Amino acid sequence: GESVIELFQLPKAELHLHIEGTLEPGLAFELAHRNRVTLPFGSVEDLASRYRFENLRGFLDLYYTTMAVLRTEDDFADLARAYLGRAKAQGVRHAEVFFDLQAHLRRGVPAEAVVDGLSAALAEAEHDAGITGGLILCFLRDLPVADADAALTAAMPRVDRLLGVGLDSAELGHPPGPFAPVFRRAREAGLRAVAHAGEEAPAAYIQEALDTLGVERVDHGIRAVDDPRLIERLVTGRVPLTVCPLSNVRLKTVGSLREHPLPELMDLGVVVTVNSDDPAYFGGYVADNFLALSREAGLTLRAAERLARNSIAASFVTPGRAASLI
Ligand code: HPA
Ligand code: ZN
Repeated sequence: GESVIELFQLPKAELHLHIEGTLEPGLAFELAHRNRVTLPFGSVEDLASRYRFENLRGFLDLYYTTMAVLRTEDDFADLARAYLGRAKAQGVRHAEVFFDLQAHLRRGVPAEAVVDGLSAALAEAEHDAGITGGLILCFLRDLPVADADAALTAAMPRVDRLLGVGLDSAELGHPPGPFAPVFRRAREAGLRAVAHAGEEAPAAYIQEALDTLGVERVDHGIRAVDDPRLIERLVTGRVPLTVCPLSNVRLKTVGSLREHPLPELMDLGVVVTVNSDDPAYFGGYVADNFLALSREAGLTLRAAERLARNSIAASFVTPGRAASLI
């Protein structure tokens, strides 16, 4: 109906999107063929049938396996082009895009190929569709800190093409604190900072990310609902959360959208945003997340408008650009 169209057309910023998580099965097989990489799946249908996960680790295993088809600058440009085309149809006017550089460096792909390919697609989207964007290099928290440090060094020749740094991959048992020196170095190089925290690990990881990494936003952050003092800190400091509802259900960190803490976080006064995380794997892009919330969790159009406005306010665009997005 009409409200579906409105949800899709609401101008949005997407702030929690892993570009490797936009790799649809069809493109994965196309790139495998182009690069003569053998995927351990028989067909597009076989790969698509594996998109059922018990937890974050189970998803990450498939995600890191499938991204092995990404080898060249053109592959990264094609991947980001495909995402930006879909994002436009979902009302995305600005996209701050995560990439997992360490996962590509370890396959021998140079940092320049990754960054230049992604940047080329972002520049095209701005020229052709008026969509702005930026790149956020995420460190893999389940690898040693020295590996993150080496990835930042590898990216330094392209630091002018980067917007920020983040922290992702398997969270439980990998708290943020040890990454403080790498984040400090990134911030000294002029980069913004965000981190995944409180997705599958408790609220204490969110507190620690704020205390040690200097992050300006928290990715996921849903476990903040368990800690009233942390909620107060997020509200007072206007620290946004980049929440990913369909991801949380697919990775079983939340039982269903009806039980999702997003409405409670909004009611408590937290600056909440809605994002798609890894849309090729989790059953929907960003407007699909809005639609699922409206159908299954009673999200009103007014609340959806607020979430979309929050996303622009929580983005790293200049105030002038933000005004033009609303
Ligand atoms: N959580 C942590 N790491 C990730 C995710 C996620 O949802 N997606 C891709 N890497
Ligand atoms: Zn994520």
